[in-house]
Amino acid sequence: MYDPTRMSGESLPLWYNQGASEHTSPSLPTHLVDVAIIGAGMAGLSIAYHLLRAGKSVVVLDKGNIGSGETGRTTAHIANALDDHFFMLERMHGEEGARLAAASHTAAIASIESIANAEDIACAFSRVDGFLFLHAGTDRHELEQELAAAQRAGLEVDLLPHAPVPFLSGPALRFRNQAQFHPMAYLLGLAKAITRMGGKIITGAHVTGVQEDTPLRVQLEGGESLVAGSVVVATNTPIIDRFAMHTKQAPYRSYVIGVPVLKGSIPRALYWDTGDPYHYLRLAGDDDLLLVGGEDHKVGQDSSPEDCWARLEDWTMERFPTAGAVQFRWSGQVQEPADGLAFIGKNPGLNPHVYIVTGDSGNGITHGALAGVLISDLICDRSNPWKDLYDPSRKILGREAAREFVKENVNVALHYGQWLLPGDRALPQIEPGHGAVLRRGMRRVAVYVDDDGQRHECSAKCPHLGCIVAWNRAERSWDCPCHGSRFDPYGHVLTGPAQRDLGRLDQEQPALDPPASAE
Ligand code: FES
Repeated sequence: MYDPTRMSGESLPLWYNQGASEHTSPSLPTHLVDVAIIGAGMAGLSIAYHLLRAGKSVVVLDKGNIGSGETGRTTAHIANALDDHFFMLERMHGEEGARLAAASHTAAIASIESIANAEDIACAFSRVDGFLFLHAGTDRHELEQELAAAQRAGLEVDLLPHAPVPFLSGPALRFRNQAQFHPMAYLLGLAKAITRMGGKIITGAHVTGVQEDTPLRVQLEGGESLVAGSVVVATNTPIIDRFAMHTKQAPYRSYVIGVPVLKGSIPRALYWDTGDPYHYLRLAGDDDLLLVGGEDHKVGQDSSPEDCWARLEDWTMERFPTAGAVQFRWSGQVQEPADGLAFIGKNPGLNPHVYIVTGDSGNGITHGALAGVLISDLICDRSNPWKDLYDPSRKILGREAAREFVKENVNVALHYGQWLLPGDRALPQIEPGHGAVLRRGMRRVAVYVDDDGQRHECSAKCPHLGCIVAWNRAERSWDCPCHGSRFDPYGHVLTGPAQRDLGRLDQEQPALDPPASAE
């Protein structure tokens, strides 16, 4: 049975808040509701808020608690200076597309600020500047072309000789009017407002599918269901989509550490560099905690993810030698769309009343906030200038986007090839609390040895489309390298697109091998 108090990873983010379930309602309505939303993260709750303001009846369902997916694992950089860079967005979406993208994220920041004020949410929202500085090995030209493209897109940006950091950053772009907040405090404030307006948020509700009849029927584990006029799937990656959307985006894991710094020694701002993957920084707490993120890699494709935190620490200590010892470390998951922008709108399926929000592209907070406006406009039949830009059915255009699309799909195809690798494998020695995949005949087995030395075996075949999962030592989970599904050590699904658990091959068994290091 899935534990709804577990977040989507084992590491605990700075924002972790066990009070997240306080606003939930236990009973599933038996009558038709206007809109059922799957996912109680930034996108799901933003959409619920705007729909309730428009007079719709709304039920939000989440397998875990509020924000227990990826929203609770973000560093909450609230930016219209998009990660994929405006000179790249221009190539993929044209100048007008880049301008619309900038405008939509600017509006998203304003929407968050206005909701926080209107609902009196104490989430430490503050407007800050953002600084993009050079990564070692990249040249100034990248900043200059981004400066020109960002200005064409309508952003207030200038080029400075350096960023206001205590190391030699080299030249940097300064973006005005970015923002930061405490994501869980904002989300819980939003949940309170939703409940006050008559919306229901039901946590511990594991959705297993959506039956595309009219009205739509949302099916839950245990056999219950909910009928709704419209359904929005806001689950980081769509759990209702077998194939189409998963070829257009790729799942990555990103790592964060938090180190204490002297209050006032670094100006409160957002910082990030031009690396690939890039580093990103902000202050939190009382401006005395520096959060540093980066070291991204494809899900399930790094054999020692713990080293990502160690490399982040090295990078940080080189630049901030007076920082204290690491106090927080966590990782989260992002979806990278091939053309740099999220997919927000009608699901490319049979029923026109099913909507999705996915492909956060490292800008999940603003993409979630703008999804609140866009999806509510679509459901309420109002026009919206961003509709085509974010349409999930859009064609992937531009040479860069096409290259990305091909690269990621070749990568997935290579992982299907794991089935073909020859030879049997002996049961590896696995240290307690960890797992490993072994071959048994034609079968791949995911073996987990718990802290008491008991062995638990599942099929290593991902129930989504059959790739072989890999053990994630950092989060103690089974991660699928193809489309990013994740499972707890016992095989219970944590994040989709898989909707089902890994097939259980046994019940508890004693470990055959003495504790030793895992492969
Ligand atoms: Fe698609 Fe595993 S997530 S095969």
